[in-house]
Amino acid sequence: MSDAYLLLGPTLIYDGNPMRMPWQDAVRIDTNGGLLIKDGRIAEVGPAADLQARHRQAHVTRYGSDHLICPGFVDAHVHYPQTAIIASWGKRLIDWLNGYTFPEELRLGDPAYAHEIAGRYLDLTLAHGTTTVASFCTIAPHSADALFEAAAARGTRVVAGKTCMDRNAPDGLRDTAQSAYDDSKALIARWHGKDRATYAITPRFSPTSTPDQLGALGALWAEHPDCLMQTHLSEQTDEIAWVRDLFPSARDYLDTYEAHGLLGARGVYGHAIHLEPREVARLAETGSALVHCPTSNTFIGSGLFDMEGLSDAGIPVGLATDTGGGSSFSMLRTMAAAYEVGQLRHNALHASQLLWLGTAGSARALHLQDHIGSLAAGLEADVSVLNLASTSAIAQRAAQAADIWDAVFPTVMMGDDRAIADVWIAGKRRV
Ligand code: GUN
Ligand code: ZN
Repeated sequence: MSDAYLLLGPTLIYDGNPMRMPWQDAVRIDTNGGLLIKDGRIAEVGPAADLQARHRQAHVTRYGSDHLICPGFVDAHVHYPQTAIIASWGKRLIDWLNGYTFPEELRLGDPAYAHEIAGRYLDLTLAHGTTTVASFCTIAPHSADALFEAAAARGTRVVAGKTCMDRNAPDGLRDTAQSAYDDSKALIARWHGKDRATYAITPRFSPTSTPDQLGALGALWAEHPDCLMQTHLSEQTDEIAWVRDLFPSARDYLDTYEAHGLLGARGVYGHAIHLEPREVARLAETGSALVHCPTSNTFIGSGLFDMEGLSDAGIPVGLATDTGGGSSFSMLRTMAAAYEVGQLRHNALHASQLLWLGTAGSARALHLQDHIGSLAAGLEADVSVLNLASTSAIAQRAAQAADIWDAVFPTVMMGDDRAIADVWIAGKRRV
């Protein structure tokens, strides 16, 4: 008989989507709750006393009342190759790509360095309570192998794809329409659906792909419709003007993807700040998902994502660090930034909504909601346990909380890796 593990303590439970219904009806904390883990999955969720009475053989981990058992965080848009250049000063998107990003992505042309950075990145994210990432790689296929291998070695769920660029990138960082198609197809065969890996076909963004390359990747997606497709959309106004010059017949930025078979339900579009009404309507009609990257959008100076309007339009929205355009590996810090961006738009997101976005919301955007993102029976046991008094500053604020949500909010706003008391990956406790 396989071992069973009981995690007991305040437990975060989702009954619905708090972006589409009152959060009070969608999210609750069972203060005397817990879950049973067996064979890498969540077997049961319920009252601690009941679970204990019925599972006397299980190994028990008891978390105190100043803890919160959460689903593992899901970071829905990152660039793991940018780990070592996070927090690089002073530039806006296009100059930041040319000045910092592309030189570092060139360095990952060395497979040993790619391997080192992939491992370093996943160790950093796990320490921050993130159990699934959706990452861009570099144009080198070995950079995707490096991340898939590093994730498999740690047991972490991962979505990734070789980044495709056949123009407006330096020598050594360009592929072609044909090689992007061939290399991506080979990576799909090697990794998609293997254990906890999902392949995402990954054109970087329209400015770095010719229409030929976008068309080839659209054809590849049509051949592999169960793969995801990830890219960038309408991040900065200068970028949008450049797209207009490069694609004079396109109706808007989204149309550069749509015209090449790169718009659809398993499409995941990062940033999406400066959208036209037609783009919002088409994203909603096609069931496409958006990813909000708030620390990046303030760090690179891109703008304020319209969480309320886009959620009300019925578009699934995930949350992400956008490492290393974003300024933190922490999804807690990212939730805090989402709160701040919301405030600048007169939309004060509740702690329950912020936690939901960084777990179930991101999982749904990545079409992984049947595997991860919630503490529910049958799902994989990826769990992050928060210490709600992880620093003296947070502890003194939580000590005078009016209720449980008021005790959680300071950790959402001020927490970092010190707030991660424990991480469980597919039912195994990470030590
Ligand atoms: N647009 C195209 N590439 C990138 C990238 O690496 N980071 C960000 N933030 N935006 C991009
Ligand atoms: Zn990005």
